[in-house]
Amino acid sequence: MPNQPEFPTAESLRIRFTRDQIQSRVREMGRHIREDLHGESVVLVGVLKGAAICLADRGRAINLDCTFDFVAVSSYKSGTRSSGAVQLIKDLTEPIEGRHIIVVEDILDTGVTLSFLQSHFERHNPRSIRVAALLDKPSRRIRPIQGHYIGFSIPNEFVVGYGMDYAERYRNLPDIRILDSIPAS
Ligand code: IMP
Ligand code: MG
Repeated sequence: MPNQPEFPTAESLRIRFTRDQIQSRVREMGRHIREDLHGESVVLVGVLKGAAICLADRGRAINLDCTFDFVAVSSYKSGTRSSGAVQLIKDLTEPIEGRHIIVVEDILDTGVTLSFLQSHFERHNPRSIRVAALLDKPSRRIRPIQGHYIGFSIPNEFVVGYGMDYAERYRNLPDIRILDSIPAS
């Protein structure tokens, strides 16, 4: 095949969080969300594609009356770089007016995606909007966004697995690993 970039094997990447660490933190966050919502129903909104895996685990961990919805934004990042522009390419399918919504993200980085989505959701008058992200890189933030539920804060490193990708690879890894050197494409 012509010029296929070589991707390091998953096993060669250093583990940042094991599947057990992830699962126990997701369960803990699920308990917090459940307590905060006092038994009220909620819409979990996953940001495709990265949050799909997280949303599946989180949905099962909160043990509340809940529905799932998904949005997708244009992938304005090529590799690890951001151009700063966000475009909605898939909107919600269910009304959120008067509902509690929790936006589920894999990782909160510059905050550009979530600040765009937050303004978008606010226009539909939900009862509340909360943000749940498994990982947070606070040192990278360029928009004033804070997650309500954060699994782990990490320094400025590029991670893959548990839904997160590099060039669409590695999303299916059960643990989170560090990609130290970015493959040339
Ligand atoms: P933000 O708009 O810069 O906050 O970007 C958030 C999105 O960038 C996440 O939903 C991920 O898709 C992607 N992203 C940011 N950091 C990483 C990373 O370390 N690994 C994989 N994807 C990342
Ligand atoms: Mg994402």
